[in-house]
Amino acid sequence: MPENEYLKNRANDRTAPPASLSRLLCADSPSFLMEAHDGLSATIAREAGFPALWASGLTISSSLGYRDCNEASWTTVTEVVERIVDSSGLPVLVDGDSGFGSFNNARLLACKLRQRGAQGLCLEDKLYPKMNSFMERPHPLAQAREFSGRLQAVKDTAPDLILVARTEALIAGQGMDEALTRANTYADAGADAILVHSKRRDAAEIEDFMRQWHKRLPVVVVPTTYFTTPTSLYREMGVSVVIWANHSLRAAAAAMRRACAEIKAEESVASVEATIAPLADLFDLMDYDELAEAERRYLG
Ligand code: SPV
Ligand code: MG
Repeated sequence: MPENEYLKNRANDRTAPPASLSRLLCADSPSFLMEAHDGLSATIAREAGFPALWASGLTISSSLGYRDCNEASWTTVTEVVERIVDSSGLPVLVDGDSGFGSFNNARLLACKLRQRGAQGLCLEDKLYPKMNSFMERPHPLAQAREFSGRLQAVKDTAPDLILVARTEALIAGQGMDEALTRANTYADAGADAILVHSKRRDAAEIEDFMRQWHKRLPVVVVPTTYFTTPTSLYREMGVSVVIWANHSLRAAAAAMRRACAEIKAEESVASVEATIAPLADLFDLMDYDELAEAERRYLG
């Protein structure tokens, strides 16, 4: 969350102060985090009532015109995270991919994200550069021991950052035993929560993992492919956080495509006018009223 009072107020003045990421992770029932990839998507997610945000590597990359394989640099991602934090005022869990290199890159990333107001960092046990988990290609995993060093370095350097260790063992086809072994190793290394990722179209792997994990640490899941799973099942399984990882950007992409195609075909914007956000909505989302009030106060 923004440290500065002015930034905090800018983001917070319209709703109650948000809960912290650690409170959400430890709550009895699951919390639902929405992805954000810029200040506008973060503001809209907050307005919709989400308690915290996922700064998604996939959607931040895509919105910048990069592929989700570390084409965007860590400094670029950090800049975007700052906009997400400041404009929403919500706790932000940052998708830090595999940490942009060794333990040394990961701990630098953690420090810089903390400085920009992120509350959490998620690191996945892949090599650099990583590739998006849903691309059909091999997903080589890091050695569990080396990855644990990355986690320890982050914990030692930014102890107040919530550290989520993400295992890609199931994505890489390495099986449940490997996923559980890795999750336990990462818990030993100091992770605060485990993200177990699956690309199945149902939640069977997640259910299996939860049965064998015995709630050693809070668990985070990303139901992008198993989206038909009723959320009551996550409650029953004891999942702590559910991430809707890319849906704002996908909604925006579909809407932009439709509007562009129609405007091109019609050589006019008249027909789309009623289907797109009025300018007044943008002014409202960016709180121009606050600026008018400040002008009255400071300009006299
Ligand atoms: C992201 O949102 O960038 C994620 C989730 O890491 S996924 O795309 O499912 O790998
Ligand atoms: Mg990602």
